[in-house]
Amino acid sequence: MSDRDRVGSIFPSSRWLAKCLTEVTLLPNEKAQDFRIIEIGPGTGTITQALLEQFNDIEVIERDIRFASFIESKFRNIMVHVGDAEDHLPNIVQKSSKPSIIVSCVPLRGNPDSYKILEVYQSLLQENKVRRIVQFTYGLRSPFPLINEKLIARRCRLVLFNCPPAFIWTLEVNPI
Ligand SMILES: C[S@@+](CC[C@H](N)C(=O)[O-])C[C@H]1O[C@@H](n2cnc3c(N)ncnc32)[C@H](O)[C@@H]1O
Repeated sequence: MSDRDRVGSIFPSSRWLAKCLTEVTLLPNEKAQDFRIIEIGPGTGTITQALLEQFNDIEVIERDIRFASFIESKFRNIMVHVGDAEDHLPNIVQKSSKPSIIVSCVPLRGNPDSYKILEVYQSLLQENKVRRIVQFTYGLRSPFPLINEKLIARRCRLVLFNCPPAFIWTLEVNPI
């Protein structure tokens, strides 16, 4: 597997993408201190850095040991879990006294393993343990294919200052 397949992109996300992701993480009526933020796939930490400017309860899950060690040394005040998100997430969410919001940097389209992580995202949303998933993608299509009818996917931003330009989507329980 090449580094690009392993990581999902040649370039790290831009700070504009990181800023926009952070902005859509909360709705206007929600308060940062009421949520735990779980970032999946922090890589070299551009998005982690932006999240830390708004949130103080952040945990990350990174499968690549080199990135995980880098994040651990760069950000001393966050919990870093090493391994696959699909294995760690249920346990982390279960232990939290607050609802969680997941900022997912794992490529879901064109990733043969993504059905596993999508299944975990969908069950945690339906169990009300996770409020929303925030996901970026480079393609026009939804990064959340074949979602359960109780959930709703929304495309909320286009970020042109990123290589390549990215769309930001959210996935939540449909309130209707
Ligand atoms: C596209 S990179 C994003 C890196 C960084 N967040 C950014 O936006 O520049 C995807 C990251 O997710 C990690 N990753 C991929 N699949 C994963 C999984 N199932 N569980 C945890 N981390 C994963 C990769 O190791 C990589 O660091």
